[in-house]
Amino acid sequence: MAIEHEDELKDEKNPRPLDEDDIALLKTYGLGPYSSSIKKAEKEIKEMAKKVNDLCGIKESDTGLAAPSQWDLISDKQMMQEEQPLQVARCTKIINPNSEDAKYVINVKQIAKFVVGLGDKVSPTDIEEGMRVGVDRTKYQIQIPLPPKIDPSVTMMTVEEKPDVTYNDVGGCKEQIEKMREVVELPMLHPEKFVKLGIDPPKGVLCYGPPGTGKTLLARAVANRTDACFIRVIGSELVQKYVGEGARMVRELFQMARSKKACIVFFDEVDAIGGARFDDGVGGDNEVQRTMLEIVNQLDGFDARGNIKVLMATNRPDTLDPALLRPGRLDRKVEFGLPDLESRTQIFKIHTRTMNCERDVRFELLARLCPNSTGADIRSVCTEAGMYAIRARRKTVTEKDFLDAVNKVIKGYQKFSATPKYMVYN
Ligand SMILES: Nc1ncnc2c1ncn2[C@@H]1O[C@H](COP(=O)(O)OP(=O)(O)O)[C@@H](O)[C@H]1O
Ligand SMILES: [Mg+2]
Repeated sequence: MAIEHEDELKDEKNPRPLDEDDIALLKTYGLGPYSSSIKKAEKEIKEMAKKVNDLCGIKESDTGLAAPSQWDLISDKQMMQEEQPLQVARCTKIINPNSEDAKYVINVKQIAKFVVGLGDKVSPTDIEEGMRVGVDRTKYQIQIPLPPKIDPSVTMMTVEEKPDVTYNDVGGCKEQIEKMREVVELPMLHPEKFVKLGIDPPKGVLCYGPPGTGKTLLARAVANRTDACFIRVIGSELVQKYVGEGARMVRELFQMARSKKACIVFFDEVDAIGGARFDDGVGGDNEVQRTMLEIVNQLDGFDARGNIKVLMATNRPDTLDPALLRPGRLDRKVEFGLPDLESRTQIFKIHTRTMNCERDVRFELLARLCPNSTGADIRSVCTEAGMYAIRARRKTVTEKDFLDAVNKVIKGYQKFSATPKYMVYN
């Protein structure tokens, strides 16, 4: 072996492959004198146990419990007694923090206040003042730190499954996408640029424009792109039955957002809560205004370089409260206008991507035929064209179908279009 070793040292560049003898030798390394016989005995024991089990037969029980003869009630009871449920308390003050004999004042709701120490499993760095903690029921020692209390309906708003919309699914809107990414992505990816220049990055974006121009769509694309936590709130969700509930939800929402490393909060249809303050004499709508004021307050409250970005979308920007829109709160306002010819062609192509169309449909011509129509209209045209094809029992959609659909949708539904109304208001 020693010689071999020298050999190896000599030609380290191209080591000799191990042959079978070497492997057999290597296998004996680390084996004690009796190891093979011990192994044999173990194997026999296992076989014997298996045989015994086979002879006994396995009893299926309906409840999934072990057979009563195997129960160990006494030790189970003992274990249950040791593991009592913890009580929730709030740590209100730390006496002598950062020292050996730090003590914690906890407040157990509706019982009393206690001065207690830490349990074995908690380190002093885990506990901060104002935190919720779990304490045991006998000595009230702090056993675990608890996360802040957040309404489950607020927690539900986090978007966990990313929507499958990407920037490629948004036709046109180049400028809007660019502006949005600048606000949302740049400060998250390169915060140092802003620090160097000494400016605060914009906190939020307001998207406004006629219905169906892709505001929600773009927000979904942003959510898909970013690794940050995405919270989506619909304005009407914040309108609650009881006074102060809406404001509390907003507070908890931002509290949750702040606990994340980076977070984007998207308020869709914000006009439901962001209406201008007015006095109707009865004070009926005050509650909605309070919710909006809490949003304003939260927008001011957090550090802009903290990684929370606020997106809002509405199609009635004129009704929004000016306080919400003032620079420093929502700095960027991005208008989603009606798509131009090129964008419309692109949107046609996007929505027909998965459709079974004739080879040379002239999308540009179709786009020309739908002036002043939104992305949603164009999508409807595509669906309608598909319907024509289905009615005629064809498997592909022809250009004629599209032309018929344009006639039907664009001309026929003009009455329902919200766009002219939007134009009047703005
Ligand atoms: N720029 C666009 N590109 C592609 N599809 C669009 C575009 N704008 C609107 N759409 C289509 O219209 C639908 C509705 O748009 P949406 O973003 O929900 O409108 P809103 O601006 O009212 O929130 C989208 O699901 C999408 O299919
Ligand atoms: Mg929308």
